[in-house]
Amino acid sequence: MSDILIHHDSGICTITLNRVDKKNSITTAMYQAMADALAAAQGDDATRVVVFQGHETIFSAGNDIADFLNNPPAGQDSPVFRFLHGIASFAKPIVAAVSGPAVGIGTTLLFHCDLVYAGDNAAFSMPFVNLGLCPEAASSLLVPQMLGYHRAAEALLLGEPFMAEAALEVGLVNRVVPPTETNNYAQAVARKLAAKPLSSLIETKRLMKKNQGSLVAQVMTEEGASFGRMLREPAAREAFGAFMEKRKPDFSKV
Ligand code: COA
Repeated sequence: MSDILIHHDSGICTITLNRVDKKNSITTAMYQAMADALAAAQGDDATRVVVFQGHETIFSAGNDIADFLNNPPAGQDSPVFRFLHGIASFAKPIVAAVSGPAVGIGTTLLFHCDLVYAGDNAAFSMPFVNLGLCPEAASSLLVPQMLGYHRAAEALLLGEPFMAEAALEVGLVNRVVPPTETNNYAQAVARKLAAKPLSSLIETKRLMKKNQGSLVAQVMTEEGASFGRMLREPAAREAFGAFMEKRKPDFSKV
């Protein structure tokens, strides 16, 4: 079975992270598949809404750490950046269903979704500093905008998880539901959206986002350059090595 499932039904394209044994961590091939699916959905008149979902126990553990070490993203054409630019500029509505941990890009991709539904077991975290890295997906811009500076600093500098209710309070999620119902709830909302006039959905989303589309792209590019450089530096090497060896990282020398 593929690590990314793409399902089309009644105008809804559902993209499912399906690598549960590795906690839906995302490989280069999975970014490629998601970037391709978004590009196809953008160009396909029959697709009106996209849904991102994971499993009721796990949304995503973020980048696959081994894959990231072996195949670090090389430039803006790499699959991870194609995916990020694709989701950030996607013209039609995107609904996300999140249950369980949403780590790193598992959380930052949600800032580019229009409606987010969370299971009450959802745990959001952006532990880039703990990995010797820096924010990506324009999260250095979008997290302070949504959370306010001090809560953003807590999320991005400490990198500790926050739960579904806290995410609801800051506006990152629209509603908290039982984890067994999250994906169905998102599908029901997607069906409501799919029944509406597509041109109005697209124009409304464009108007809401138009003031910062180019800024988001610019920030993503700047973050990407730093992230790519930092991936190769000692702090990230130590953090990733520690993860692979199942030990605590030692940053005393970096
Ligand atoms: N990359 C690669 N493999 C990962 C992974 C990741 N980001 N996250 C989890 N896995 C793998 C583990 O190595 C383990 O593999 P194994 O069974 O071959 O040993 C398997 O998935 C299960 O993970 P485990 O940590 O045992 O699950 P858990 O339920 O105890 O914890 C998480 C779940 C998501 C909290 C935890 O796996 C985690 O923190 N992952 C790393 C998140 C991270 O730092 N992401 C990078 C962001 S840039």
